Amino acid sequence: MRVQGVVRPPGDKSISHRAVMLAALARGTSELQGLLTGADVKSSARVLRQLGADITSIRDGVKVIVHASRITHPASRLNCGNSGTTARLMLGILAGQRFAATLTGDASLRRRPMRRVTEPLRAMGAEIQETGRDALPLTIRGGRLRPLAYTTPVASAQIKSALLLAGLTGGVGVTIREPYRSRDHTERLFVHLGLSLHERDGAITYEPPERRAVVPSFRLSVPGDASSAAFLVAAAALAEAGELLIENVGVNPTRTGFLVVLERMGAHVERVNLRDEGGEPVADLVARPAALRGTEVSAAEVPTLVDEVPVLAVLASRAAERSETVFREVGELRVKESNRLELIAANLRAVGVQAEARGNDLFVCGTTHPPRGRVDTARDHRLAMAFAVLGTVPGAEVRLSEQASVAISYPRFFADLKRIRETGHGKRET
Ligand code: S3P
Repeated sequence: MRVQGVVRPPGDKSISHRAVMLAALARGTSELQGLLTGADVKSSARVLRQLGADITSIRDGVKVIVHASRITHPASRLNCGNSGTTARLMLGILAGQRFAATLTGDASLRRRPMRRVTEPLRAMGAEIQETGRDALPLTIRGGRLRPLAYTTPVASAQIKSALLLAGLTGGVGVTIREPYRSRDHTERLFVHLGLSLHERDGAITYEPPERRAVVPSFRLSVPGDASSAAFLVAAAALAEAGELLIENVGVNPTRTGFLVVLERMGAHVERVNLRDEGGEPVADLVARPAALRGTEVSAAEVPTLVDEVPVLAVLASRAAERSETVFREVGELRVKESNRLELIAANLRAVGVQAEARGNDLFVCGTTHPPRGRVDTARDHRLAMAFAVLGTVPGAEVRLSEQASVAISYPRFFADLKRIRETGHGKRET
C-alpha cells in the first residue's frame, strides 16, 4: 500500500466537549469553530440544550454559536449516549446547580464506573442517588458546595475536569492531585478564559473569586484530534511507500505519548508549522512508512496515550517477527467504551497475532504474517478504527463486526482512510 496526500482529522473530542460546556456556562455569545461533529459531542450539546442552553446545530464546517442562557431544571432525563466525558463532566456542572437531574446513557455507558466522580462530588456536598450499582442512571441534586482537596486514585481527566467544573459552578475552591498527569485541556481552557487556576508541586487548584465567577464569552478554534490523527499516522507507518501530511493536529504533550512510543518503535513523525490555538499547541504532522520494533510502554506514559493503546497494539503486531511490546498497567482499558484490554488481545489473536492480557499488562508479539480473521469491535469506535488500519497491510483480510461506531469520534474515518490510500491525492478539506 502506498500512502499519500493531505488530510485533516476532525476536531478534538475532549476540547469540543469542554468548549461547548464552558460556552453554555458563559455570559454572552461564544463562537466555536472546528468542533467535532461526532455523536459524543452532540450528546453534550443535547444535554446542555435540555438544561436550557442555546446552541446552534453542530455541522461540518459550520461555526457553532452558543448564546448565554441560564441553566435550569430539565424536563426529562439527560441521555449522555455513548459519552463518558458528557456524563462525568456534566455531573460536575450539575453539582453546582440547585435542582435535581437524572443522567443516563446507552448500554455501554451504563456499564461504566461513576463512583470515581460521584464520591468526591458527594464529599463536596452534592446529593447523588444511584440504583445500587456503580453506574448510570444517577440522580444528582447540587447546591451549596464545600471546598475540596482530593487525590484521585486513577489518572483521569474526566474526574479532574468534573471536580474543576463543580468548583466553578459551585463557587468553591478545589485542589486535585493525580497519580500521573492526565490530559490538561480543562486547565488550559480555564486559564485561557482568565479563570483562576494554577498548578503547584503537581497539585491543580481552582480558586473562586470573592463574588460568583463569571465565565466570559469566547471564540475558539478547536484543533484536530491527536487521537483521531493517530489512526492516520498508523496507516502511514504500515504503508510500503509514500508520505502523509496530517494538518492541524493538537500536540498537547499530555496527549502525544503515542508519538513518543512510535519513535521508540522506529517511526519518526515530524511536527511542522507549530503554533498555538486557544492555549493549545497545534502542528501539522508528516508521517511515513517505517520498520517497527517492539517496546515497553510504562505506566507513567499510559495517561498520555490512553485512547491510543488499541492502535499502538495493532502497530506492535506489525513489529519485527517475534519482537514483543508490553503495555504496563493498562487496567483502565477495561472500563472504556468496551473492555478494550480483553478485546484488543482477543481480536489480535483472532487475526493470527500472539497477544495476551496478563493482569493489568498487555503483551503483543510482532509478526509478518498477513492478519486474517473476524474482529468483534463491540461497537467501540477505537477498536473499529484500529483494526481497520490493520486491514490495510498487504495480504490482510480483516472483517469488522461493524463500522458505524466510528461516528462517535471520526465520522469520515473510512472515507479518509480510503482517500489517502486509493487516489494517492488527498484533497484539502474546507
Ligand atoms: C477524556 C479522558 C479520558 C479518555 C476519554 C476522554 C476526556 O478518559 O479516555 O476518551 O475528555 O477527559 P479518563 O478520564 O477516564 O481517563
